[in-house]
Amino acid sequence: MRIIPIPEIYVGSTALNEVLPFLDRLSAEKLLVVTDKGIVKAGIYENLENILSTAGKTIILFDGVQPDPSITLVSEVTDLARKADIDAVIGIGGGSSIDSAKVAAASIGNEGDIDKYIGIDQLKKDSIPMIAIPTTAGTGSEVTPIAILSDEKEHLKKGIVSNKIIPKCAILDPTLTVGMPQHITAFTGMDALTHAIEAYTSVNASDYSDPLALRAVTLISNNIRKAYKNGTDIKAREAMLKGSLLAGIAFANAGVTAVHAFAYPLGGTYHIPHGLANSVMLPVVMEYNMVGSEDKFTDLARCMLDKEDVNAQSAVAFVNKLSSDLNIPRNLAELEIPGEVISDLAEGAMKVTRLLANNPRKIELEDAKKIYTAAYKR
Ligand SMILES: [Fe+2]
Repeated sequence: MRIIPIPEIYVGSTALNEVLPFLDRLSAEKLLVVTDKGIVKAGIYENLENILSTAGKTIILFDGVQPDPSITLVSEVTDLARKADIDAVIGIGGGSSIDSAKVAAASIGNEGDIDKYIGIDQLKKDSIPMIAIPTTAGTGSEVTPIAILSDEKEHLKKGIVSNKIIPKCAILDPTLTVGMPQHITAFTGMDALTHAIEAYTSVNASDYSDPLALRAVTLISNNIRKAYKNGTDIKAREAMLKGSLLAGIAFANAGVTAVHAFAYPLGGTYHIPHGLANSVMLPVVMEYNMVGSEDKFTDLARCMLDKEDVNAQSAVAFVNKLSSDLNIPRNLAELEIPGEVISDLAEGAMKVTRLLANNPRKIELEDAKKIYTAAYKR
């Protein structure tokens, strides 16, 4: 069993304050903060800026992160990072900001264009220290060795996978997530649930990842509707952040599987938000993967429904009902994906061999077409 390192982690309603002692322990004075304009506009960045500027830290702000950040956009961040002679990088926002910050931290010391970092273990040198402050509860990026970038030319999402980009510190402060719009709470929460389900059913699941994945399923299942219905429910928001964190550690170790492989072409070509693409593919892939893994899906159903009298199908029924309660579109037709592109999507998914290798049931091209067809109209 191989265990991926985890950052120093702070959780709670005053956790943001921990950023300062952490930076002081590093003697970090000049910082690059990577975020998006929405986080600045919502006043979330201001909380961080106040803490840092009161302490006399020098801040270089990049607030131009876009969803599904492209290689070109992230190159802009790395250019800024390399020129600015910074001591540390802070990523505050959703997974796109945190992933961009991870690459910026890696680009100092590692030479060349960032597309050279794509793939597994391509980084030769350590990153400078990076602090992740998620404002959504979903990607788990604050604890994973992965940054996902969009390749605009190939219309594909590509991953930089290296322990050298794991953040040094993760700060999970639920007060930063109260303003998250309902649909983002739904999509990102479903992404986190997908991470936990996939980590638990992955062929690389282990005695380390299993308890984390199951606890994540329980936390998310018990709290996602509460956080969706009432965004200011701090207890539910904190539970969602913890669920997302545990799911992140679980999948950093066990990997995600076919749901993510099938979601990537939907994001890369049709710009369907990551959590939404996962939500639509999740129940269909669960049905496929259940064959031969009934016990594992029954374990998941016990956590989702908090009762013993369940079976593998109960887990699928739970996910379908949850998606409906969160007003998430049910199928690919509702996402306005043309029916005639199913073969292209299937070919795209089959290229995500890194994730399909983790899937508990083998998937061939014909299976992939059937899975997308099942997700098209259901
Ligand atoms: Fe994900």
